[in-house]
Amino acid sequence: MARDTLSKCLFPAAGYGTRFLPATKAMPKEMLPIVNKPLVQYGVEEAIEAGLTNIAFVSGRGKRAIEDHFDISYELEHQISGTPKEQLLEGISSIIDTCTFSYTRQVEMKGLGHAILTGQTLIGDEPFAVLLADDFCANDGDGVLKQMVKLYQEYHCSIVAIEEVPMDQTQNYGVIDGTEIQEGLFKVSSMVEKPDPKDAPTNLAIIGRYILTPDIFDILHTLPPGRGGEIQITDAIAEQAKKRMVLAYKFKGRRLDCGSIQGFVEATNFVYSAYYDNGENYPSKEP
Ligand code: UTP
Repeated sequence: MARDTLSKCLFPAAGYGTRFLPATKAMPKEMLPIVNKPLVQYGVEEAIEAGLTNIAFVSGRGKRAIEDHFDISYELEHQISGTPKEQLLEGISSIIDTCTFSYTRQVEMKGLGHAILTGQTLIGDEPFAVLLADDFCANDGDGVLKQMVKLYQEYHCSIVAIEEVPMDQTQNYGVIDGTEIQEGLFKVSSMVEKPDPKDAPTNLAIIGRYILTPDIFDILHTLPPGRGGEIQITDAIAEQAKKRMVLAYKFKGRRLDCGSIQGFVEATNFVYSAYYDNGENYPSKEP
């Protein structure tokens, strides 16, 4: 049953982050800081802005720092109490007050589709958002998830965020095919995971923001492994699109792939020059 109100956002965060080794050997990729805030906190802030305060993590071995980040730290807070440094924790303290957090573990890393299926226990039978924290998104107006939630309220179907990428980079993304039903909004006819440029139907690449209806879990339960022997969420959404409407949305804003060195450095420079370039340790305005 379609519901108007979305409240849950799933954060698949069990991947090994091999592109960022050795930094990710003993530390979750999601905890890498963009200036002085971990990637995952930017993601949770985007979810909150979209009205999603029920935050569900699919984590894995070596990811406990994420749980600790979204919890109080008595000793530290006592230590800096009454000093100007207290303001550095205001943002995270307000997140902890606003959200509920739940966690489950993906025991074997069998792909993003499998990670999302592992999250079913936290989501249940309702539509939900998925946010991949290593895709850092920024926009002057509404955040990407907020834009997508507004669309969901109109269409009540699964929605993937897309952006145009250079044709010679399609092998790094899931790619959609479909019909443009209004400017920047496509009805998906098919999707393919990491196609060679010569086989790619378009250059419209899926990025790490999704809204999914819960029937996706039934599809994931029976889906065979796809590219790389992994359970691919792209394959599951392509199956869903055969049965019902699925939309792809060219979001407004900018995405930087912080799972890659180049994207990470760009995001760092972007946040620094937008918020911290004031010679202080504190942002000139809240990022
Ligand atoms: P990536 O493809 O970026 O993989 O996963 P990764 O392990 O994080 O990083 P690299 O490529 O080895 O450097 C996309 C998202 O899906 C999650 C990851 O945590 C990331 O948020 N994921 C992927 C899982 O949770 N479980 C998996 O089995 C695979």
